[in-house]
Amino acid sequence: MIIINSKRELIDTLCRERERDCKVTLIPTMGNLHKGHLSLVDKSDDFPSKKIVSIFVNPLQFDDSNDYLSYPKSIKADLEALEKRKIDYVFVPTKEEMIENLIELDELPWGFTNLLCGAFRGKHFIGVQSIIKELFKVVDPDYAIFGEKDFQQYLLIKFIIERYFRNNNIQLILAPTIRMDNGLAFSSRNILLSQEQISHATRAFQSIKNTVIDYFLETGLFNFDNLIPRSGKVHYQYVKLYNEQYLYDKHGLDVNVKSNQKTFRLFIALVIDNVRLIDNYLVEGYDIS
Ligand code: PAF
Repeated sequence: MIIINSKRELIDTLCRERERDCKVTLIPTMGNLHKGHLSLVDKSDDFPSKKIVSIFVNPLQFDDSNDYLSYPKSIKADLEALEKRKIDYVFVPTKEEMIENLIELDELPWGFTNLLCGAFRGKHFIGVQSIIKELFKVVDPDYAIFGEKDFQQYLLIKFIIERYFRNNNIQLILAPTIRMDNGLAFSSRNILLSQEQISHATRAFQSIKNTVIDYFLETGLFNFDNLIPRSGKVHYQYVKLYNEQYLYDKHGLDVNVKSNQKTFRLFIALVIDNVRLIDNYLVEGYDIS
């Protein structure tokens, strides 16, 4: 496994790999790798290629500088885990290398600033867009792997590919959310929680998920706001159910080709003692025809 810090070196290295007819898979991360990330890495085994994991804590996507500064880092353990999984290259750029001269002037479609996390996280998606565009320019991957837990981010990557990399043939791979035995999704933020807080969060996700999905499947209605608890340890930032066609449309994506109007997804963001967790679930069994 080779660690690369500069964009130039990465471009030259990948150029040599391509001369040998190798394909390239990119798995972008912010490090502090947990089982969720490692499942993305394992997913790359499905695609014969040179594998690159990038590790870069992107300051542009944090709304709060304290959140950025306190973002957990574990580079030694990360590299060990990647080495074990036979990753070919780890790209670990410095802040200067990665974001100096990056100016993001483009606006994003309405959904990224008004729906779900977009409505609560300021310039988050603009910041993710900047860094992903830069990574795609440098790596020009054949395959790029992202996790289903950040479904809106997945829509953003789709949008970036459709808008800026249409001719590059990047295949976007969505890897399923990995959960603990109790159902809580793995997240970098889980380590900020005590066991007790983890239990609260797990119960909160589970109970609102069951309540809303049961209600929706029975009634076909979306007016479940009064079912969301408004007091207690857990604050629900949003609990929203959308069909994929609507989501694609609002995020500026091609609606007809790839989305399925019968597919609904429930999105939840909750805050427990200042720690914000998100998750989403595919809702099956409701036929709108
Ligand atoms: O999902 C993440 O960890 C980040 O948003 C990403 C995709 C690596 C961009 O910084």
